[in-house]
Amino acid sequence: MKITVVGAGAVGATCADNIARKELATELVLLDIKEGFAEGKAQDMMQTAALLGFDTRITGSTNDYAKTANSDVVIITSGIPRKPGMTREELIGTNAGIVKTVCENILKHSPNAIIVVISNPMDTMTYLALTSTGIPKNRIIGMGGILDSSRFKYQLSQHLACSPADLNAIVVGGHGDTTMIPLIRHATWNSVPVSKYLSAEQQTQIVNDTMVGGATLTKLIGTSAWYAPGAAGAALAEAIVRDEKKLFTCCVSLEGEYGQKDICLGVPVVIGRNGWEKIVDIDLNDEEKAAFNKSADAVRAMNEVLKTL
Ligand code: LAC
Repeated sequence: MKITVVGAGAVGATCADNIARKELATELVLLDIKEGFAEGKAQDMMQTAALLGFDTRITGSTNDYAKTANSDVVIITSGIPRKPGMTREELIGTNAGIVKTVCENILKHSPNAIIVVISNPMDTMTYLALTSTGIPKNRIIGMGGILDSSRFKYQLSQHLACSPADLNAIVVGGHGDTTMIPLIRHATWNSVPVSKYLSAEQQTQIVNDTMVGGATLTKLIGTSAWYAPGAAGAALAEAIVRDEKKLFTCCVSLEGEYGQKDICLGVPVVIGRNGWEKIVDIDLNDEEKAAFNKSADAVRAMNEVLKTL
């Protein structure tokens, strides 16, 4: 198995580090446009192999896509991250050109790769990857909902004083501060609805804190977060290469599912060796449906901006 991570910044490097530790691939390529940057990070990571005991061979490349040839999975993290006060949407002008070029270069050398998009604004970058490459929809997966769901579980665990791993909770819709929808009504603690233990005020607080989860970190750190985004990218790679059939919320192409089409948006999907293999239907009530449609409208408006670039 061969995996490539494009972009050796904080998210890409953390993602690669997780992939190596989990030995998800025999070969792992880290690629960046900055001279020597990916080579350096790859070497640093390789120097942990003896300590951590993994056998994945990590190599770095300065923009030489030939080195990425025959990758099974490619994770795209390239682009500029947001600064405090910036929305993910403000990055579109710069990141659209980068993501499009990266996709073209990747497919030249790995025509069968499954592509995971992390670059922001993620929903629009996923839509761009899908429409500009024309590859089968199941091979394009946007990483947003899986990260937001993990942040949702973190917020829930803080209020419930429980292990995040004992929670079942998902975030659907867009990966934006105002477009994501933490489905608190469906959230459970070991199959018991969390509403049994949390007041209405606590639930509202948890939903609000989840929605601005990324922005809160950007404010604290001074740039976009990387541990959870990197781990989320690696979790997706793991589900693909190990054919796990894991149910994750990911940004995928909708063709009528959840009442939407010609858009990529976060919904629960089964992830396996073929990429996203199935969209899973969950019953949304009227309020949740309205929120989902509103999220779709916002993402669609952002997708329209692509036409003006
Ligand atoms: C975040 C970025 C990766 O939410 O979108 O931290």
